[in-house]
Amino acid sequence: MKTRHLIDLDDLSLDELDRILDLAKVIMEHPPYYLDSCHGRLMATLFYEPSTRTQMSFQSAILKLGGQIIGFDNPSNSSVSKGESLKDTVRVVSNYADLVVIRHPREGTAKAASLFSRSPVINAGDGGHFHPTQTLTDLFTLLNTKGRLDHLTIGLCGDLKNGRTVHSLVKTLIRYPGNRFVLISTPQLSLPPYMKALLSKAGCDYIESASLQEAIGEVDVLYMTRIQQERFASAEEYQKQKGAFVLNMEILKKARYGLKILHPLPRVDEIDYAVDDDPRAVYFEQTEYGMFARMALILHMLDGSKKQLDPRPESNAGRCCENPRCITRTESYLPRLFKKTADGLCCEYCDAKQSGSLRTGGTGTDSSRVDI
Ligand code: CP
Repeated sequence: MKTRHLIDLDDLSLDELDRILDLAKVIMEHPPYYLDSCHGRLMATLFYEPSTRTQMSFQSAILKLGGQIIGFDNPSNSSVSKGESLKDTVRVVSNYADLVVIRHPREGTAKAASLFSRSPVINAGDGGHFHPTQTLTDLFTLLNTKGRLDHLTIGLCGDLKNGRTVHSLVKTLIRYPGNRFVLISTPQLSLPPYMKALLSKAGCDYIESASLQEAIGEVDVLYMTRIQQERFASAEEYQKQKGAFVLNMEILKKARYGLKILHPLPRVDEIDYAVDDDPRAVYFEQTEYGMFARMALILHMLDGSKKQLDPRPESNAGRCCENPRCITRTESYLPRLFKKTADGLCCEYCDAKQSGSLRTGGTGTDSSRVDI
């Protein structure tokens, strides 16, 4: 049996997703029942990029389930600083741990790590690409505060281009019926084309707006995001976008009574502190919901047996992904993998669209994979 990994929530069926969310609710209501569920199990957290919530909520989750943790939160304190590759690090750590949770600034890293891991890999954020466990957190928050995951109008505001939490959330909410989206950003930070292609393909209604003030009255959920300085090519580019959207009490006057305001956090300046005391703000509750959601996910992913490495796909040598932030640009041994999608030819690690044309057929057993 192949090792299951969680690169994005698409790796789970809707039925599995619903079962995880149901389990999270049971755990939240009866934590003592689960105190020993992971006794003797070890989780590794490999954080190549800073984190407060994701790392600590995963650590809290495994400890509250009776398991233990190894890992690093600063790669310069590990053999990464001596030049060890991602492949070697993951291969070794997966010999020790039953679960590998990885965060990395490069897009496609979790997928790359999964090729060399004997234990399930969970993507804890790969550059500006995906952040599936934040989405699990967001879904559990919506269930507990709005009571449903369907027929919602969701406003997404801020850095929609680089916001991995936004990408994973949109990809998941389009799987539930009747959801529509209001995309609130500057033109420079709008949702990437491959994400808009997914919305269109799913038949999802969406509009774009450059004004939070005008859009806020239309939405049931407002998902605020930080404009992420670390994703910009230069400080000047960041300065041009900084402070573009700030939610304050004046703007909130135009919102619906039942609005719920979510934010993956950390916040910089995009939500005024005065908003924190408004009952519509649920972003601090969201962090606690995230811990229960991760407890349920850990139980779902830990299936017990240590596997041999799965066979790796053949290398599609001769071509490199065009995305300068893709993991394949720095870990040169990785097989080059491309797939045909609604948006054209894309890198299988980071989903970036490629300008090249297709040659023929599929590679190996995956019919969506292409030779180029
Ligand atoms: N939401 C989130 O990913 O926060 P951290 O960067 O603190 O983990």
